[in-house]
Amino acid sequence: MTNKVAVITGANSGIGKETAKALAQQGVAVVMGCRDADRAETARQEIAAESDNSNVVVIPLDLASLQSVRDFVAEFGRQYDHLDLLINNAGLFPFKKQITQDGYETQFGVNHLGHFLLTHLLMPRLQKAEQARVINVASMIHHLGKIDFDSFRGETRYSPLGAYGQSKLANVLFTRELAKRCKGTSVTAYSLHPGAVGTNIAGRGLVRRTLYKLLGGYLTPARGAKTSIYLATAPGIESTSGSYYDEYCKVKPGSKRSRDAALAERLWQVSAQLLGLDAA
Ligand SMILES: NC(=O)c1ccc[n+]([C@@H]2O[C@H](COP(=O)([O-])OP(=O)(O)OC[C@H]3O[C@@H](n4cnc5c(N)ncnc54)[C@H](OP(=O)(O)O)[C@@H]3O)[C@@H](O)[C@H]2O)c1
Repeated sequence: MTNKVAVITGANSGIGKETAKALAQQGVAVVMGCRDADRAETARQEIAAESDNSNVVVIPLDLASLQSVRDFVAEFGRQYDHLDLLINNAGLFPFKKQITQDGYETQFGVNHLGHFLLTHLLMPRLQKAEQARVINVASMIHHLGKIDFDSFRGETRYSPLGAYGQSKLANVLFTRELAKRCKGTSVTAYSLHPGAVGTNIAGRGLVRRTLYKLLGGYLTPARGAKTSIYLATAPGIESTSGSYYDEYCKVKPGSKRSRDAALAERLWQVSAQLLGLDAA
């Protein structure tokens, strides 16, 4: 894995931090895309020390700001000429409705739209790698998700789980459409469910933690990073590009909606339109 470069969003905490550590241990140059400078620097030092790899850097990235995504890509482009692994890992699950700087419901804006823009803008660098992989950390909660095209700016009544399910379904649909569009190139794409993992996303409140435990208990963040690490490092998985993997590194069909090619295409078109990108 030496000479490989990975971008990992939300690499300062939970699954992202453990993924960063494991890749750094294998000699990968890790770029952490993180929104909080202090939390990021503390994690960077831990990752660099535990992996004995000084090639771990932070570039500021707040996925709730499309300008921040653009700034991240500009800075990445100044420092690196290619990108082997893009791990779209950052995510959040707020109980109350929040709106991003650009006016999107935050789970849609951060979990999906920010990563959609990031991937789009990093594509020229991904195309320069010998073999590049885009890995989208989704969730089995995508099974509960529907895409409501009238909700992206928070117009509808907010349900935390509904918004989370929508954003995670968007991750799986985005992966399938990206793989389709990259077919025959050196770029492949995968989505995954990491398991029910004890991280900050569950929050610190007793009710949330209990609820989360009832949903399936907790894996450690290191165990939860297993499928992300597998998808980043396993040889010969290119034929499964577009697939959704479970926490045991196995391809699963995903929900019926996640396999709706017309829905994936429409979500791509609308996302591109919202961002002022060429949808072709
Ligand atoms: N834990 C689970 O059981 C579980 C299950 C299924 C899927 N997942 C998915 O796994 C991924 C990682 O989550 P986790 O469980 O490891 O939770 P976590 O410990 O809370 O990590 C989430 C990371 O995302 C970052 N983040 C949140 N909003 C951001 C923004 N606007 N810009 C940039 N970074 C942002 C967080 O940064 P801060 O530290 O600054 O907040 C943190 O680094 C998420 O996509 C989540 O949906 C988790």
